[in-house]
Amino acid sequence: MPKVLVATEKPFAKKAIHGINGIFSKAGYDVQYLESYTEKSALLKAVETVDALIIRSDKIDEEVINHAKELKIIVRAGAGYDNVDLQAATNKDIVVMNTPGQNANAVAELVFGMMISVARNWFNGKPGTELRDKTLGIHAYGNVGRIVAHIAKGFRMDVYAYDPFVDRATMEDEGIGYIESAEELYSKCQYISLHLPYVKATEKMINYDLLKLMPEEACIVNTARKEVIDEEGLLKILGERECFRYASDIRPNCAAEIEQKFEGKYYFTPKKMGAQTREANINAALAASKQIVHFLEKGDCTFQVNK
Ligand code: 3PG
Repeated sequence: MPKVLVATEKPFAKKAIHGINGIFSKAGYDVQYLESYTEKSALLKAVETVDALIIRSDKIDEEVINHAKELKIIVRAGAGYDNVDLQAATNKDIVVMNTPGQNANAVAELVFGMMISVARNWFNGKPGTELRDKTLGIHAYGNVGRIVAHIAKGFRMDVYAYDPFVDRATMEDEGIGYIESAEELYSKCQYISLHLPYVKATEKMINYDLLKLMPEEACIVNTARKEVIDEEGLLKILGERECFRYASDIRPNCAAEIEQKFEGKYYFTPKKMGAQTREANINAALAASKQIVHFLEKGDCTFQVNK
């Protein structure tokens, strides 16, 4: 009987757990849970004998992989897999997958929660602004970026996107202004929503040179990864500009300095919350469970990211 471990420092909603249990009991698999753990040692112990692993942002490094003697597949229930050491997994012939698109709507909705909070001065009683007719730039037009664009049209924002991997025709067919360079996007847009994956090439990509191109009243919404922002550049622009705001679904490393110096110009979620809805949990958890069964039963490698 294959053994599956669901290791989630940030647990799934109850309904998602129910769904996971249903899929694995039907397949005749044994499923174990390690939730809200605080010590890596608990994860190291729990992975020892399992064949399959479902995770979220849980860090799966070489040490974890070396402890997992029977492991054949890791599924990151979510989009970004920068938390998994792909090379270490590949070295052990472990397949790594993600579940693209399954939590995209939840993240996109949070973008608007944050933009409205910024526009209304965090609801402090002073007059704010509206989103209507404002320019929104979407940096990376993938699953989340596309939904953000779609919702923004409902707000009657002027929507533009830059993504070197998406062509003009695709964006224009979807009614989005095609932008050819990051510089052009940042120059044009008051709001920028980040949807870049975190890889070597995107590390600190959002730097001072880009940020300074933004209009006088500007806001960056980061529901991607803290690593894509050059924090030195961010601190510099926040210091220089009266009306520059930063809203982020994760605390940057320089959070304490921002909190001390730039009151009213920032917001950070205490924990990554973009995908933390019941619906997204159900979608991603069920997709992950099905992918494991299809892989172990039929060798289906759709969504493998370490080819
Ligand atoms: C993702 O990459 O899918 C999101 O960042 C969600 O991360 P989470 O599963 O830790 O909420």
